[in-house]
Amino acid sequence: MPGDGIGPEIVAEALKVLERVGEIGGLDLEIEQGLIGGAAHDAAGHPYPEATREAARRADAILLGAVGGPQYESLERDLRPERGLLGIRSDLGLFANLRPAILYPQLASASTLKPEVVSGLDILIVRELTGGIYFGQPRGIEERNGERVGFNTLVYSESEIERIARVGFEAAMKRGKRLCSVDKANVLEVSELWREVVERVGKEFPEVELSHMYVDNAAMQLVRDPKQFDVMVTGNMFGDILSDAAAMLTGSIGMLPSASLNSEGVGLYEPIHGSAPDIAGQGKANPMATVLSVAMLLRHSLNRNDLAERIEAAVGRVLDQALRTPDIFGEGMKLVGTQGMGDALVAALDD
Ligand code: NAI
Ligand code: MG
Repeated sequence: MPGDGIGPEIVAEALKVLERVGEIGGLDLEIEQGLIGGAAHDAAGHPYPEATREAARRADAILLGAVGGPQYESLERDLRPERGLLGIRSDLGLFANLRPAILYPQLASASTLKPEVVSGLDILIVRELTGGIYFGQPRGIEERNGERVGFNTLVYSESEIERIARVGFEAAMKRGKRLCSVDKANVLEVSELWREVVERVGKEFPEVELSHMYVDNAAMQLVRDPKQFDVMVTGNMFGDILSDAAAMLTGSIGMLPSASLNSEGVGLYEPIHGSAPDIAGQGKANPMATVLSVAMLLRHSLNRNDLAERIEAAVGRVLDQALRTPDIFGEGMKLVGTQGMGDALVAALDD
C-alpha cells in the first residue's frame, strides 16, 4: 500500500529489495497492491476502501508507505487519509507496535546528541497500540458546574497488559535479554496493575532481566544514556512520546522502520516518517526506512530472520560505500537519489 507523497517512490524501491531477497531465499511471494489514504480517497472515495480491507485481511503482511498531504487537510475528518491508517490498525487488531531505534555507526554525526552517547545505539520500544487513554471510555468535553471540562479515561485490562508484555519479553529473548517496563506506578492504579501483570509474565522468561522505570525518569534516561536500554515496553500514550524521542536520538527520520503486529503474527510494516510532501515527486526521498521495514516484515511475519539480516547487512554495506540520499548527506559522501539508493541496496544483497 504505497499511499501518498513519497510513499509510492519509497515502496517501489522496497519492493525491488523484497523481490530480490525473495529470489535469493526461495520465497514464494504473492504481492498485491492496495489503495490507502489520500490516494484511495481520490480513486475510490474513501481512505480505506472495502477492496483494501479485503486485501488486508487476506495478507500475511502489509507494507505501507505513508499517508496524508496538504491537499487533504480540508476534507471532513472521516475522509482524511489518517483515517485509512487508523482503519487498518483497528481492523486487523494491531496491538503491538515495535519501533527500533538504531544508529548506524556511519551516521553517528547525524544525531543532535554527542557521538559517544549515541554511537552504536540499538534499542527497541514496544508500544501498546490499541488500548489505553487514546481509546478509553468515557471521553468527551461537557459542561460541569458552569464550565466546560475535557476528560479521557486510562484503562488497561489484565489480558491487554499480558499480551503486550509477552511481546516485550519475546523480543528481549531475541536480543540482549533485558526488558525495561515503563509506567507511572507511583501515581496511577492502572500502572500498579501493569507492573503486577508484567512481573507475572516475567516468570515465564527467567532469562530476561526485568526492570521497571517511571515514565518521567525514562524520558530523562533516554536522553542522558540511551544505551542502557535493550527493549522497553509501555502503554499507548507513554510509548507514543518515548518512541518519537528515541527515534530522534538517531537524527535520521529516513532510516527508521516500524512494525505493528496482531496476535496471529500478521503485521503492518511502515517507515516511521510521513508522506514528506515537501520532497514528493523529486526522487530524493531516502528509501532505507521502508527497506528496513521489509526486513522487519521478513523477521516477524514470514519468520525469515536470515533474510532480514541480509537486508540489514546490505544497508550497512551501502552506508560503508558512502552513498547518501540528501537527508543523510555530508561532506565527502556520494549523493544518490531514491532509485540510486534502491539499486545499490539490491546489488548489496548479493555480496
Ligand atoms: P514527515 O515525516 O512527512 O516529514 C518531516 C520532514 O522529514 C520533512 O522535511 C521531510 O521531507 C523529511 N522526510 C521524511 N521522510 C523522509 C525520507 N524518507 N527521506 C528524506 N526526508 C524525509 O512529517 P510531516 O511533514 O509532519 O507530515 C507530512 C504529512 O505526512 C502530513 O500529511 C502528515 O499527516 C503525514 N504523516 C503520515 C504518517 C504516516 O503515514 N504514518 C506519519 C507522520 C505524518
Ligand atoms: Mg507519534
